Order: sequence, then C-alpha cells, then structure tokens
Amino acid sequence: MKASRRDFSKSCVLAATGAVMEPTVRALAQIQGEHIQTAATHPVRSIQETGTLGEKNERMKWFREARFGMFIHWGLYAIPAGRWHGTQVPGIGEWILNSASIPVAEYKALAARFNPTRFSAARIVGLAKSAGMKYIVITSKHHDGFAMFDSKADRFNIVQATPFKRDPLKELAAECRKQGVKLGFYHSQDQDWTASGGAALKTDDHKPPTYHWDPAQDGSFPEYLHRKAIPQIRELLTNYGEFPAIVWFDTPTKDMTPELAGEIVTILNEHPKLIWNNRLGGGYSGDTETPEQYIPSQGFPGRDWESCMTMNDTWGYKQDDTNFKSTETLLRNLIDIASKGGNFLLNIGPMATGEVPSTEVERLHEMGKWLAVNGASIYATQPTLFGAEAGAFSTTEKDKSGNPKFMPSWKWRSTTAADKIYIHLFEWPHSIPFHLDKIPREVRGAYLLADKTKTPLKVTKRENGLDVTLPEQAPNPIASVLVLTTA
Ligand code: GLC
Repeated sequence: MKASRRDFSKSCVLAATGAVMEPTVRALAQIQGEHIQTAATHPVRSIQETGTLGEKNERMKWFREARFGMFIHWGLYAIPAGRWHGTQVPGIGEWILNSASIPVAEYKALAARFNPTRFSAARIVGLAKSAGMKYIVITSKHHDGFAMFDSKADRFNIVQATPFKRDPLKELAAECRKQGVKLGFYHSQDQDWTASGGAALKTDDHKPPTYHWDPAQDGSFPEYLHRKAIPQIRELLTNYGEFPAIVWFDTPTKDMTPELAGEIVTILNEHPKLIWNNRLGGGYSGDTETPEQYIPSQGFPGRDWESCMTMNDTWGYKQDDTNFKSTETLLRNLIDIASKGGNFLLNIGPMATGEVPSTEVERLHEMGKWLAVNGASIYATQPTLFGAEAGAFSTTEKDKSGNPKFMPSWKWRSTTAADKIYIHLFEWPHSIPFHLDKIPREVRGAYLLADKTKTPLKVTKRENGLDVTLPEQAPNPIASVLVLTTA
C-alpha cells in the first residue's frame, strides 16, 4: 500500500510525518462553532473561511456519508497510452506530453484521432453504482489543456476539435441525475501545457520552477487564466445543471497568487453547496485534504479528507501498466480510510475507445459485492473509537523525514454508528474468541453483518474488555464484519 506521497497544506504534513496529531487551531475553531478558517490575509474570503460550522456540516453531509467515489482520468493521452513513436514513456500516462517533451502541435494533432464511440455514460455510471460508489469525479481538463467538454472559451475541446463531437460531461450529468450519483469535475486550473502562458512543472513531484519545452507555451500566466481557465471554470459551473457537486483542482504553482486565486474564489462563492479541495493555490484550503496514493496514519482530525489512489501505477490509461492492486488491498484500503473518517476516491483510466479496462471493471464488481453485504459498516459511519488497531509509531525506525515511522497493523479496523460498533476482521481468530479491551460503550450483543438472521454471538464480559465467540468459518476472507450493538 506504499506509493509516492503528496500533500498540499500544512496540516497534512503533520500526518505524513507521523507526529502525534493534536487538533490544529483551525480544528478547535471548527469544534467550537466559530468562523471556520481565519485567513484574514486573503483578498477574497471563501465561504469556507467565513461560513459557520452549521453551513459547513450542511455542505459536507452527503460527502461524509458517501465515503467511496470514482475518479476518472480520461483524455487524449489515452491514445498514445504510454507509448510515443512506439517507445514506452516512463511515468504516469496522463503526463506523456510532458514526460516526452512532445511538441505542442504534434500532441494537439491527436484530437483529430479521438473518437471514443464505445463511450457510454450509462455503463460508466452503472459501473460506479455496482461498485458501491456514491460519486464520480472526472477530468474536465487535465494538464494537457484538452477540454473534455463543449467550451466556447477555447476550441481545443472534444466537441469542436474531434470527430466525436459529443460532450461526455453532459451525458454523464444526465446519467448521474438518473441513477442518483453525484458528479464532480477535476480541473487543472494552473498547469496547461498547450495554452500559451499556462504553467508547467517538469516532473510530477510538483517542485518549481515551472518549465516550458516549446515556445508555443510561453506567455503570461494571468493572461492564460483570464483567457481560458477562468472562463472554462465558469462554463463548468453553469452548463451542467446542479452539477458539479465537487471541483477537484490540482497542482497549484507559485504563479497562482492569492489575488489570482481570489478571482476564482469569487466565482466559487456563488455556489454555496459546492465542495472544492485544497489544491487551488493562493493559500486557500478549500473543504478537503487530498492525500494522494497513500493513507494518512491517523487521518486528518478536524478536516474532511479524501485519499485518491490508482488501481495500478497510472491515472491515465497506459497499455503496458498491468501492476493492478488486488481486490483485497483495495477493499482493505477503503475500510482503513473509513475507520479514520476519510473518503476513498479510486481511479479508473478509460481507453481511447471509451471502454474501461476489464481488470478495473472486475475489481469494482468485486468491491461492489462486498459492499452489497457490508455497506452499512462503511457509509455514513464515524471513525473508530479505538485507534491502536491501525498500528503504532516505531520507537526505533524513522521515516524519510526523520520522524518515528508508522508501522501499520492489518488485523482489524473499526467504524462507528449511533448504536453500533463495527469491527472489520482481516484476520479470523478461528478457535479462540475475538478479544477487545477497553470498550468505550456498553455492549448489548453481537452478530455478524453477513448473517441475515443476525444470530446472536456469545459475548463474555472480562475485566479487561470482552470476548466474542465467533464461528469457525469467516464469512469473507478479505474482511468479515462483526457488529456490536451498544446502548
Ligand atoms: C497528480 C498528478 C496528476 C493527477 C493527480 C491525481 O497531481 O500530477 O496527473 O491527476 O495527481 O491526484
């Protein structure tokens, strides 16, 4: 479950370096119902900064209950699919234009070949639902600058520049409305490798300085923002009915000053129900922390967060990347994330035909089967009342930043509901009872979530906790859920 780590605001650095998490001032301010964030320096105050806790809770309610969403990275980069002129290009697929320093005109010529006639919004939304996912976030424009929607602001888009001439965001919006799934848009507001003035980071470690490899990219960043990015953000926020429910910004650079970001915040403030993440730039934290390709050892107490992850090693489709995580790993990640109060945004990378790679479909179907039986232990639950089950910090080993290394343990996890404690058992204790010590609530009974008859299990109160006698066979080899009913 280890992959490259990335975080975008101060509070997540704490989590990543494993220091014991004391609620930040901001978190305390939240708990006490005062104004959420005090970024007095901002030229434009965001709703997230000026709103009350009640307004925030209202805005975040569906998101907190959802817990599991689909990320979709889809665009022109699905055509080369990780190869350029027959050579494999290392790195994540959606970065091929940058990783291979492809001339802008040569890359833009791909649009004439993009015709995903096998794209079906009904099938993709249906796949998300069958997986137990409650929302979808799709790339409306990635760093390559190609808009996957009908844009009057810039012709380099799927309706005006390709033989496909359809707007997949419009079709997904209609299908999500029909199937009761929320829809959000990823938008690369800062990096744009085909628009003059757009920012470009040389490697996906997001370290400055920005870097251009083609004179066609040179220009003024503020001019790019006013000519393309801001008009397109307006189009996305007005042309798709009640959607987007989320705007997922990415890779803010130093070009995005508080003043420029403030201009975007002015537009976002017109949509009080809209959720946006901590990657806008200009010092704005938005609503959510977004740990990427890792799960923070203790979550982000006091902040809403969403761990985004690939199923293999790329976001955009790469034909040679078959390094897929197992269903066991993906499900246990979801459970681990929910037990720490976060959301899991799991990625798919459709092919240039519009179809979803079969391995990704299989994984999602298998996850959906588990959630069809055990979903109550994930959706709309609160974090664990325990904590030590997730692991502990090593007293000897240090992580990359020299802090005590967090050593995860994978025996069990827990989530909480008003009158229940859910225990997700990864290891089935077979002949010995499952022991829990220090239960923070009065336990009335126990049964297995997979057992529709809810046959009571024997609970023995002990001085140091309680024992639950479990049947010999685990209902599910990946995770079996024990339900403790509590007063
Ligand atoms: C990184 C990658 C970007 C990807 C994003 C998803 O920022 O640079 O390509 O879309 O992660 O979280």
